[in-house]
Amino acid sequence: MLKNARILVTGGAGFIGSHLVDRLSSENEVIVLDNLASGSLANLEQSKDHITLIKGDILDKPMIESIVADVEFIFHLAANVGNIKSIEDPYFDMEVNIKGTLNLLEACLNSNVRKFVYSSSAAIYGDAIYLPIDESHPLNPESPYAVSKLAAEKYCFAFHKVHGIPTIALRYFNVYGPRQGSSQYANVIPIFFRRIRDKEPLTIFGDGNQTRDFINVKDVVAANILAAETEEVLGIFNIASSKSTSVNELADYVIDITNYQTKRIYAPPRKGEVLHSLADISASKRSLGFSPSMNIADGLRQYFEYLKAH
Ligand SMILES: NC(=O)c1ccc[n+]([C@@H]2O[C@H](COP(=O)([O-])OP(=O)(O)OC[C@H]3O[C@@H](n4cnc5c(N)ncnc54)[C@H](O)[C@@H]3O)[C@@H](O)[C@H]2O)c1
Repeated sequence: MLKNARILVTGGAGFIGSHLVDRLSSENEVIVLDNLASGSLANLEQSKDHITLIKGDILDKPMIESIVADVEFIFHLAANVGNIKSIEDPYFDMEVNIKGTLNLLEACLNSNVRKFVYSSSAAIYGDAIYLPIDESHPLNPESPYAVSKLAAEKYCFAFHKVHGIPTIALRYFNVYGPRQGSSQYANVIPIFFRRIRDKEPLTIFGDGNQTRDFINVKDVVAANILAAETEEVLGIFNIASSKSTSVNELADYVIDITNYQTKRIYAPPRKGEVLHSLADISASKRSLGFSPSMNIADGLRQYFEYLKAH
């Protein structure tokens, strides 16, 4: 486990970032940089007394340079997240996800960063040509978001090649768990729980047979820490459960766990959404020692308990 290290977490007030900050903050010096575009201070309630919080933007290059000069590890999670937002404003998506990442990488040139851990996304694979998807699967991003996440990943490796910055990219599949937003930009799990809370039917886009590889946020945090600790390991790794769940099955789980019988409404498929997604995680198991610990039924039950308490 990382200890006594100086760590920067960009996007640390967000869904995934705040869980990572909770895990790191008691034993390390953690700086959280977040402009609160989609994150919130409430997410940092647990660790607020152990961190330095900077409300700032990754597009503010001079500020980024002054922060990065003195850190050893960077977990870069700040991003404009999601296909829908990126379709609405691809220029903004490009600025935050590409230029923001580039600002951080440039700042690393004047620091002694030991590991730059980039949060990438399985969205960059596009529709699966074969399953399970390994890291050599062709990259066919189908939304501006997927394009910007891929471009930023490529910059990470260009900076390693040209300048020797030690970069690693973690391609998360569908992450879920406490603190995940349930706005119109959210993914299917928080939306299903919200609709059940509001006693509304579950809307399923397409026929519901589309599959996803859902990974609990705790496992994503563990993967980030492993990625930093294995300093010699660079490259690209899938982070997922390697288990396939259809949206129809997910609706069954949610109805079962909440014990609330509701209708399902089938709507036309959404633009830019992939049909099937299932990861091969043998590389992250082998090189990082990654091993997902939470199955979907237990993960959903825990998430539901959290939702009831909040
Ligand atoms: N949630 C998923 O299923 C998933 C899947 C694949 C990849 N990812 C990646 O994981 C990372 C974290 O995603 P998340 O789900 O926690 O989303 P999130 O929206 O909760 O977190 C993103 C955080 O970045 C902050 N932010 C946005 N723009 C910023 C800027 N210009 N400067 C500083 N901070 C900024 C937001 O305020 C927010 O706190 C992202 O890079 C995302 O692309 C997430």
